[in-house]
Parts: sequence; C-alpha cells; structure tokens
Amino acid sequence: MKTIKTVSEMQDCRKTLAEPVGFVPTMGYLHGGHISLVRKAREENVSVVVSIFVNPKQFGPNEDFEKYPRDLQGDLEILEEEGVDAVFAPEAAEIYPQDFNSRVEVLGITQKLEGNCRPGHFRGVTTVVNKLFNIVRPQRAYFGQKDAQQVIVIQKMVKDLNMNLEVITCPTIREEDGLAMSSRNIYMNPEERQSAIVLYRSLMLAQDMYQRGERDAEAIRKEMVRLIKTEELARIDYVSVADPATLDELDMITGKALVSLAVKFGKTRLIDNVVLG
Ligand code: PAJ
Repeated sequence: MKTIKTVSEMQDCRKTLAEPVGFVPTMGYLHGGHISLVRKAREENVSVVVSIFVNPKQFGPNEDFEKYPRDLQGDLEILEEEGVDAVFAPEAAEIYPQDFNSRVEVLGITQKLEGNCRPGHFRGVTTVVNKLFNIVRPQRAYFGQKDAQQVIVIQKMVKDLNMNLEVITCPTIREEDGLAMSSRNIYMNPEERQSAIVLYRSLMLAQDMYQRGERDAEAIRKEMVRLIKTEELARIDYVSVADPATLDELDMITGKALVSLAVKFGKTRLIDNVVLG
C-alpha cells in the first residue's frame, strides 16, 4: 500500500493503477462505517484509493476542526489490512495553497437541514470532493447513507457537472445498541453516550408508525420529538420528514420519505436517518 502526501505523487500513482478504480473519501479516524465502504470498493474494483483529509473548509468557525480526532498511523494499519492500494493523506496546504481561489457549490438542497444549521458546510464538502475526484479520477466513489444529505448533494454535483463516475451509497453501520458509528462518538461521556441511543429509537419509532399505516409526516415528527425530549441531555437541532429529492418537508408521505435528525448531547452533535417507503 502506498501512502501519498502530495497531489503530484497521487497523480503519478494513479497512472499505475489498474482500472476500474474505486475511491473512498474520508476524514480518517476510521471505524466500521468507513471500513464497510472500503470493503464494498474492494469487492467492486480492481484498485482502491482511500483519502484521509480533515477538510478545514467544511467546518464552521465555531465547529470542531481543531479537535476533530486524528490517528493516521492507526488508519494506515487498518487500510493495509483491507488491501487498499493507495492512501492519499495530504496536508491542508497541499489541497489549499495560499493562492487557492475557487469553489464548487450546489444550490438549493444545500440550504436545507444540515446546510441550514451549518452554513457553508456543503460548499466545503463539494469543493474538496470535486478536487479529490479530479486528482484520483475514480470510476466509482463510495459514500455512506449515514450522511444522507451529503450523498444527495454529491449525486447532484456529479449529475449537474457531468462528472464521469458512479456514486455508490452504502448502508449505515451501527453499534450493537443502534447508535450510528461516527468518528465523533468518542466525544461523548458515558451518560451522553447512553442517552444518544434515543436517536435510533426515534428512527425506529418513525419506521413503526409508517409500517402501521401512518402517512401524516407531522404526526411522525411530533412523536419523534416527544421521545427524544424524554432524554434530558438531548438538544434537538432538527427532526425532519422530507422529500428525498428536494429535501422539502412533507405534509403527507406518498412516496419515499427521508426521516433525518440532528441532536446535540453536550458538545457532541450527532446526525442519523432512515428512509421510509
Ligand atoms: P467522514 O465523516 O470521515 O465519512 C467518510 C464516509 O464514511 C462518508 O461517505 C460517510 O457517510 C461514511 N460514513 C460515516 N459513518 C458511517 C456509518 N456509520 N455507516 C456507513 N457509512 C458511514 O463524510 C466525510 O468524512 C467528509 O464530508 C468527506 C466526504 C470525506 C469530504 O471531506
């Protein structure tokens, strides 16, 4: 496995990789969710490239960029085990040199949900993912359903800008108690960690209501909010039942619905979702 720090080395390495190339962009501190994407890429491609880059442009000024967990050595050991061909792990100055002056932005859907709570977040994501796609030139790129809006935004960028690759969405990997795996889970103390189970419980409640025939989106939101509020430590950013294409809030569920939420436990902000229908 090659570990690569510069854009030009990555471009040189790419020329030597047998195609198709599968690509998994990450911010590192790898867990079972990331590994599931790597395994899927390994299954479906001849070569696999993983990037590890904590992208400063997708963090707000009061967010956790500085203290975002990092463990490059541990991550490299995991990726070596998984049979990855190349890991691209550049420094910020390599991706954003002093004179860097461009951005890539998807409009509309990036203003909703996460975009509404984290202004500029998706502009940071699409800018870096576009750069990474240009550097790695994969045939396929793998993203997690865990970040449902992110994959919707990436799909839109790829379609709108005629990018020549396939975006593949992989299922959310969870801890035994249902909590979605996340690099941020380690921020929580034991009480917060225990309370955070309510997110999965509330998503399962939404699924139960839907399966029992409930189609009133507001009734589902209300019950989810009520359940989450039984946990004293939970502070809700949003609970949404939205159209998966437009991310507009639904009144009635007639087709598919994206049920998503963002909730803080102390300083830790968690997101999760399920798709109904
Ligand atoms: P990061 O949070 O490291 O996640 C990298 C990829 O792993 C994303 O596609 C994310 O959806 C997926 N992932 C995270 N937790 C998961 C889980 N529990 N189950 C399945 N997949 C999971 O998302 C980012 O990094 C960044 O925004 C990035 C796309 C790398 C751009 O900087």
